[in-house]
Amino acid sequence: MPRAAREEVERFLQRRPPLYRAARAARLWAGRHLLRPRVIAGVPGRVHPNDVVMAWGKPHMVSAYLHAGRQARALVSDALASTGRAPADVAACLDFGCGYGRVLRHMVQELDPTRVWVSDVDRAAVSFCVSEFGVRPFSASEDDLETFELIYAISVLTHLAADDGRRVLDLFARRLRPGGAVMFTTHGRASLARIDSYGAWCGPQADAIQREVGGAGFSYRPYPHHKSDAYGLAWHDPSYVEAEMAGIAGVSMQLVEHWAGALEDHQDVFVFRRTT
Ligand SMILES: C[S@@+](CC[C@H](N)C(=O)[O-])C[C@H]1O[C@@H](n2cnc3c(N)ncnc32)[C@H](O)[C@@H]1O
Repeated sequence: MPRAAREEVERFLQRRPPLYRAARAARLWAGRHLLRPRVIAGVPGRVHPNDVVMAWGKPHMVSAYLHAGRQARALVSDALASTGRAPADVAACLDFGCGYGRVLRHMVQELDPTRVWVSDVDRAAVSFCVSEFGVRPFSASEDDLETFELIYAISVLTHLAADDGRRVLDLFARRLRPGGAVMFTTHGRASLARIDSYGAWCGPQADAIQREVGGAGFSYRPYPHHKSDAYGLAWHDPSYVEAEMAGIAGVSMQLVEHWAGALEDHQDVFVFRRTT
C-alpha cells in the first residue's frame, strides 16, 4: 500500500480510538505470533515487527530509525564523557525502556553486551533484545540488586505521566553507583514549538499544554488511542526536571549537562551524576 494511503488509514483509525485500539492489538498480536524479525540492509541486528519506532519499515523510516539510533548512541557517549568517564570504565550499563533496540543495537558496538542490562514494561521487547543482542534482562524489582555506572533512557520520560516519571527518576538515582551517570531525554521547549507534529489530536491542545509547562513546568496528555491512560506525551520545563532530581530523598544528583533539542531537534537531553 502506498505511504500516503497507509498514513490516511492511520489517521482514520486514530480518529476512532476503540477501532484504533482493536487494530493495534491485532497488529501487535500478529507481530508476536505470526511475523518474524527481519534483516534490513544497513541496520545492525534484526528488526522486530513490533518495533513501533520503525513504523512501516519503508526506506524513509529506515533512515530515520538509523539516524535516531546513531544520534542517541553518540549522545550517550558524550554524556558519559561529560562525567569524565570512558566506555571502558562502565562495568554495568542499563538501557531503560529499551523497546526493540533502536539505540541498543548501536550501543552494543561500543559496550560489551555482557555489561549491558535492559528493562522495559513490554516483556516481549526485553526478551527480543536479550536474544538478539546478547544483553541481560533487568527487572527493576526489589529482588534485582544490580546497580550501574551508566543508565540511559531515550524517549521514555517523554511518554510518562508525572507520578510514573517521578518513580522512574527515583529508580535511576537509586540504581546508580556513586559517581555513576544517567542520561535521559524529555520533550522541552523545542518540542513545544512543534506540538502539531505529534498527531492531529495534539494540535488543538497546544495552548493549554504550553500554559501548563510555563506554569507548573510539566504537562501530560494520554494518547487517546492507547489502551491505558498511563502512556501518552509529556513535556518538561528544565526547571521541573532539576527540581524533581533535587527532591529525591537520600541521594544527591548533580546536573552535569542539559542539551536543549539535541535529539532529533525536538528532545532535550539531561545528564545527571550521582555524587553520594
Ligand atoms: C518510544 S519507546 C522508546 C524505546 C527506545 N528507548 C528507543 O529509543 O527506541 C518508549 C519505551 O519505553 C517503554 N516504557 C514505558 N514506560 C516504561 C516504564 N515505566 N518502565 C520501563 N519501560 C517503559 C515502552 O514500553 C517503550 O518501549
